[in-house]
Amino acid sequence: MTDGREGWAVILGASSGMGEATSRALAVAGYRIFGIHLDFRAGLAHVDEVKAAIEAAGSEALFINMNAADDEKRASALATLRERFDRSEAAGHHPYVRVVMHSLAFGSLVPYITDDPKAGVDRKKMEMTQDVMANSLVYWVQDLYRGGFLEQGSKIFSMTSEGSSRVVPSYGVVSSAKAALESHTRQLAMELARTGKGITANTIRAGVTITPALLKIPEHDEMIAITKRRNPTGRMTTPQDVATTIVALSGEGVDFINGEIIGVDGGEFITGS
Ligand SMILES: NC(=O)c1ccc[n+]([C@@H]2O[C@H](COP(=O)([O-])OP(=O)(O)OC[C@H]3O[C@@H](n4cnc5c(N)ncnc54)[C@H](O)[C@@H]3O)[C@@H](O)[C@H]2O)c1
Repeated sequence: MTDGREGWAVILGASSGMGEATSRALAVAGYRIFGIHLDFRAGLAHVDEVKAAIEAAGSEALFINMNAADDEKRASALATLRERFDRSEAAGHHPYVRVVMHSLAFGSLVPYITDDPKAGVDRKKMEMTQDVMANSLVYWVQDLYRGGFLEQGSKIFSMTSEGSSRVVPSYGVVSSAKAALESHTRQLAMELARTGKGITANTIRAGVTITPALLKIPEHDEMIAITKRRNPTGRMTTPQDVATTIVALSGEGVDFINGEIIGVDGGEFITGS
């Protein structure tokens, strides 16, 4: 970063996969990391490793273990960030949130049509998935905007997949959430641009990437085999590919890409099946 301001990244889903890799890479690039994640006891040692790596890069890791789709917890998390910003301001610095990344993976991987109602989607599963994987982006951005955290040059990234417009038996609920997420990001891009404050919003469409979220998809073995055959680079996308892209797109002067879906997949999407 060449800017004199104190740049922060809000990473929703900072403890694993794309969010973890991007947190680590942004820390190396000089950003401080406000990480939101949802981990149980078994995952906490890994969270400590991520935080330690961020600090070893000379950055700061302010992490909160919470459900990112909970309104009260979001308000409390942002109050914590505000307190941290107040301390920076008192020390004569100018903190702002330069990067917002929505990288939450938490959805129901069940089909719509099943003989046993318990095995298929129902209202609760549908709404929970939509809320975490799509709608929560809107509420975080609204609060970050209203709270004055976003400024000239701030960039919002959501994470989609080719599955937003394709069918996989267990992926229907997540697919619908991805379609909504893309739509929310476009809408935010347009409305934020009209504020004249220099804030952009784009969606990153990553190729199939080996992460804990992928391995939860019942068809993951088949998806990995197809992807390895299909990706013209001969390899799969990695979380590092996404991280490197977000660092580059967050840099100074990259201010006029807005409302796009940006593929990070080595050409997997254009290759078809
Ligand atoms: N892995 C892929 O092949 C792939 C491809 C394209 C897009 N994506 C998308 O990228 C994003 C990240 O996926 P990933 O593969 O890195 O997943 P991941 O499972 O490795 O990481 C998910 C992160 O989200 C956090 N999280 C989940 N639910 C949460 C909640 N309710 N509140 C707070 N934190 C929560 C987890 O703690 C974790 O940090 C997702 O939106 C996913 O759909 C993944």
